[in-house]
Order: sequence, then C-alpha cells, then structure tokens
Amino acid sequence: MIADQLESLGMKGRDFLGLADYTPDEIRKLIDLGIELKNLNKAGKAYRPLEGKTLGMIFEKSSTRTRVSFEVGMYQLGGHALFLSRNDLQIGRGEIISDTAGVLSRYLDGIMIRTFAHQIILDLAEHSSVPVINALTDYSHPCQALADYMTVLEHKGKLAGLKIAFIGDGNNMAHSLMIGGAKLGLHVAIASPDGYLPDAGVQQDTRAIAAETGGSLLVTEDAREAIADADIVYTDVWASMGFEEEQKIREKAFANYQVNEELAKLAKPDYVFLHCLPAHRGEEVSAGVIDSKHSIIFDEAENRLHAQKAIMAALM
Ligand code: CP
Ligand code: NVA
Repeated sequence: MIADQLESLGMKGRDFLGLADYTPDEIRKLIDLGIELKNLNKAGKAYRPLEGKTLGMIFEKSSTRTRVSFEVGMYQLGGHALFLSRNDLQIGRGEIISDTAGVLSRYLDGIMIRTFAHQIILDLAEHSSVPVINALTDYSHPCQALADYMTVLEHKGKLAGLKIAFIGDGNNMAHSLMIGGAKLGLHVAIASPDGYLPDAGVQQDTRAIAAETGGSLLVTEDAREAIADADIVYTDVWASMGFEEEQKIREKAFANYQVNEELAKLAKPDYVFLHCLPAHRGEEVSAGVIDSKHSIIFDEAENRLHAQKAIMAALM
C-alpha cells in the first residue's frame, strides 16, 4: 500500500503547481494512491494521516467541484479546511501576496489557491513555507488533469499509447492535459481555431516530454483530424472564468468546434468523453454526447476528491 509509505514518495513539503514539476513515475504514484484512497473510502475504512492539520483554500474565482472536493477530502484525511474567498481576505484590499503567504504559512499546513494570473501562484509559492496547491489559474489546472487521467486509467486499464483529443479553447485545461498526457505517454491531439491555440511554450514542453515517454503532440485547427481514432474525447467551455465578456466573439470563433454526434463518429467506437465541468450543452458539447453512454463525467468529477486526497496526503 502506497498509503502506508507516504514518506517514501519523497513529495512531502513540495508544491503542486503543475504536472511539469513531477516525474512520470511520481504522477503515476499519485494516481495509484488516489485509486487506493478511493478503494479505502468505498470500503468504509478511515484513513487520517492529516489529523490536526489545516488547509487554507483561497478562491479568487467561483467553484463547485474544487471547493467541495478539497474540503471533503481534507475532512476525510482527518484535517480541517478553511474557505478563504478573495473578498474576505485583505488581498482584496491590496495586501501583497508575499505578506499574505508569509502570514498564512504561520497558521496553515498547506495552501490551495484558485486565481487568475499564474504569476500569482508562483509568487505565493515562493513566499510560503508550506505546500501550495494549484486549484486552477488562467494557465493550468493540474488537479483536474490528474483526476482525468486517473479516470481514464480506471476505464481503459492503461494510459500510455492512448490517444486523447481535446477540441476547443487552448486554455488552462488543454495545457494541463498536454503536459500530463505527455508525461504519461499518451498521444495528445489539440484542435483549436486560429487565435485560441495552446501556449507556444506549453507546446514546446509537451513535445520535449513526449520525446522521452513515447507520447506525441498534434496541434491543428482541424477538429476532424484531431478526433480521428481518439480513445478519449475532451472539451471545455469556450469562455473560461475571467473571459466572460468575450463570450459572443468566442461563440463565433468556436462554432465549428462543437463536440457533437457527427464529430464523435470519427473517434474510436469505444471512446470515452470527458469534460472538467461546468459544461454548456449546445455550445462546446451537444447534449447527445455529454449525456451518452460514452460520457464518464461523473466518475471524472468524483475522482477530483480521490486524486486531491492523494496530493494532500503526499505533500502535507
Ligand atoms: N472542474 C472544476 O474545477 O470545477 P469547479 O470550477 O466547479 O471547481
Ligand atoms: N477552463 C475553465 C475550467 C473550469 C474548471 C475555466 O478556467 O473557467
């Protein structure tokens, strides 16, 4: 049991800012630990390595899954979670992030943050003496990608060699799936319209990682090319949090990027559909796909709990 040997993971005290900072072996161990913790939980067995510890959860954006899964997860691990919304913290009134980090580190055993610019989490981590966990920035969403690959492993029995097609905005979700997919040896295909392609640096890093693991990366504007023979089909909203005012322009730009029954026909017959949620039926995905037998969105959402418990147990 990995759960009995947390120290041997060598992750104690580390931050979880992105999957790029973790080796393929470490990512796989986190996934396996998540599956173990899920099994313990289903068997009704208590596992409380974080008794007496407290996680601060800073939210500068809305959340359903992340907030609930981290709070419940921390409780199940024997610890306590504090919800800290931007409006209730002094950062909302201009206290600088380094002072916030220094102060919170004196009270808490870990800090989870959902914020806008990725630089904010980098600054927070630099000035915190406790582990900092990325619960979404404009740049990445690694907790979600970890839970996603755990879900795929449960459904497909393997990860390396599978093809994942992400259709839509080359956003935070695309970035984390690219890096995570490459680390785990998947073939990653991204289809986005011109102007919404994934970050060039992330593309470069993904290619470099894939060259080591046997994975690959295809970035195209052609959704049909990306989805061809995919084992996993993934999409996300067209206008992420913080980009709501671009909704109308984005609806035009992404009109040909809806994952619907016609497009999904090009994927493998036994493809699985994932979406980090929240979803907009009739925009990035048709109801016919997201509510079909291919869709594993609720297993995926559930696994946020188990995967994040693995992260917290390993780091804290
Ligand atoms: N997928 C996800 O992070 O959902 P929330 O925004 O509800 O936390
Ligand atoms: N790309 C989305 C993900 C939400 C979980 C956003 O940033 O709003």
